[in-house]
Amino acid sequence: MKKSVLVLGLAAVIFTSCGEKKKEEVKKEVETKVEQVKKEVKDVVVDNLELGKQLFTSKTCATCHQADAKVIGPSIKDINKVYAEQKGNIVKFLKGESEAIVDTDPGQVAIMKANLDGFVKDLSGDELAAIAAYMRSIK
Ligand code: HEC
Repeated sequence: MKKSVLVLGLAAVIFTSCGEKKKEEVKKEVETKVEQVKKEVKDVVVDNLELGKQLFTSKTCATCHQADAKVIGPSIKDINKVYAEQKGNIVKFLKGESEAIVDTDPGQVAIMKANLDGFVKDLSGDELAAIAAYMRSIK
């Protein structure tokens, strides 16, 4: 009787320790996967910001929009401020689906509108999203 209790106890110990080990392994595996996914997401975000930055320069946005100073158009920081405050959507504005909220002076709006109608309409949704993400990353 005593012996069988002992055997049973031992079996239980071995069993739980095996269970523990398995849990540790699974936890480790999950953690490794999570790290991989995190890294991939980070790479994609960085790529997207790089693309946005490239487009912002190559599509001449940078000529009229500088990070800090107003040149012809409002600075990127001013645009971010107003869009954050009013919960605006830069992509929507660039698609011509929402009105100007940063500088509503008709002359100024017309300058930007000429870009929207001229070449911004040829950019894909992904490109516009990358540009908007890049603009928002300027802090
Ligand atoms: C020739 C100069 C010029 C170029 C080039 C230009 N912009 Fe503008 N942009 C302006 C002016 C002027 C305004 C102010 C009028 C306004 O707010 O709509 C403006 C405003 C904006 C706004 C704020 C809109 C709002 O809600 O008031 C965004 C966002 C913007 N531009 C993004 C861009 C992007 C992205 C590009 C490149 C694809 C670009 N602009 C190219 C002149 C320019």
